[in-house]
Amino acid sequence: MKILVTAGPTREAIDPVRYISNRSSGRMGYAVAQAALERGHEVVLVSGPVSIPAPAGARVVPVVSAADMKAAVDVHLAWSEALVMCAAVADWRPKRVSAVKIKKRGASPVLQLARTPDILAAASARKGDRIFVGFAAETGADFETEAARKRKKKRCDLVVGNDVTAPGAGFDVETNRVSFVTVDGVERLPLMSKLEVGRRIVDWIERQAALR
Ligand code: C5P
Repeated sequence: MKILVTAGPTREAIDPVRYISNRSSGRMGYAVAQAALERGHEVVLVSGPVSIPAPAGARVVPVVSAADMKAAVDVHLAWSEALVMCAAVADWRPKRVSAVKIKKRGASPVLQLARTPDILAAASARKGDRIFVGFAAETGADFETEAARKRKKKRCDLVVGNDVTAPGAGFDVETNRVSFVTVDGVERLPLMSKLEVGRRIVDWIERQAALR
């Protein structure tokens, strides 16, 4: 299959040297890409700035901002048969980007923020018969309810939900404890490596594709 994977954070510029971002390491998305490649799928990996090596064989499209990531997904969606949106897209960007470095002297600046585009929700208008997998990184016990809400809203076939504050889950660790939320309900997976979670996601996509 042709699988489009997004990974990592995005960076939203404040001025030429500063930005807003988040703690995503890119590990989960890179693990999905690696698992897909292991199975012989073709992978385009749209990646925000990360410091981990790309899996061999992936075609990496590096991006910085949410707007860049949306443009890259827009370009590669037509090619793809499945989209796995692992990226932790920044939800807000500074409304105005200063062309010069903002000086420290004087009053502290007040940042006005604007929403970034929801890449997955926008892609859903062009879903066709593609398989869409989204993620829901939450903080708290109601993460499965949130994942179910996002699955419907963003027209995903599968949302992989997790509580990023749970032990062994979340940022910069090699493991994750996730729940698969589909139209059929919730499947809780045990704590496992991100690569193993990636393999389960690829299994799920393959099974889903075989049913179509
Ligand atoms: O609403 P929330 O950000 O929690 O949704 C998470 C899912 O939506 C993830 O799959 C993420 O990659 C995607 N997303 C997106 N564009 C955004 C924000 C999130 O595609 N601006």
